[in-house]
Amino acid sequence: MPDAVKQRLRALKSLEGPFEPVDLAALGETPQAAFLDWLEAAIAAGIAEPHAMTLSTVDAAGRPDARVLILKNVDERGWHFAISAASPKGRQIEAEPAVALTFYWQTLGRQVRIRGRATALDAADCGQDFLARSPEARAGMLPGRQSQALDNPSSLDAAMALARARLAADPGLVPPAWRVYAVAAEEVEFWQGATDRLHGRLRYRRQAAEGPWRKERLWP
Ligand SMILES: Cc1cc2nc3c(=O)[nH]c(=O)nc-3n(C[C@H](O)[C@H](O)[C@H](O)COP(=O)(O)O)c2cc1C
Repeated sequence: MPDAVKQRLRALKSLEGPFEPVDLAALGETPQAAFLDWLEAAIAAGIAEPHAMTLSTVDAAGRPDARVLILKNVDERGWHFAISAASPKGRQIEAEPAVALTFYWQTLGRQVRIRGRATALDAADCGQDFLARSPEARAGMLPGRQSQALDNPSSLDAAMALARARLAADPGLVPPAWRVYAVAAEEVEFWQGATDRLHGRLRYRRQAAEGPWRKERLWP
């Protein structure tokens, strides 16, 4: 049945809509303002986890890697996420800070793509973020072995027992590897899907880090 999977996938719907027509020309002067408008629309539409995004990085050999993370903030510094510097993505960003973020808001037929550079916030901001996490989320980060091979599940239990004990003894503990990064955008694209496939696309770009944003429509 070599075609069974192909047929199964072809039968699935995508970009079914109907989607509200969007006036891309009315989007804000900065991509942050436009993003916050669309994020509010995604929240109002009841989209599950509208703050989930794909972070794409490259490793030392230039091979792409990608995974889903949670957006923690958007401000003049950019789009924020929190990770361990000891994880594969943390090491990839240290070596190559050029990254991409992708959001998909399914029932609205919208995608946002951000390309830019990730910079770690200062230690005080990183510490504040860590201490705002739940006790379980803080303990889970302490062993510092994310994405390493887990040869023996009992080592996880032992490491977690140790981590909980360390936190109980020192509730203000902040592991030095905890990082909040802000992605300063170089280009941001807002994509409004259409059932007739004539998708609306608007890209923001700027020449210099502090320069004005230029907006341009893109072919679908
Ligand atoms: C919805 C969702 C949210 C996630 N949020 C985070 C997050 O905020 N920070 C994080 O380090 N990993 C998060 N993860 C796990 C990552 O996708 C990934 O598995 C992990 O960070 C290891 O990635 P790495 O091996 O590339 O370093 C999330 C996964 C999902 C599906």
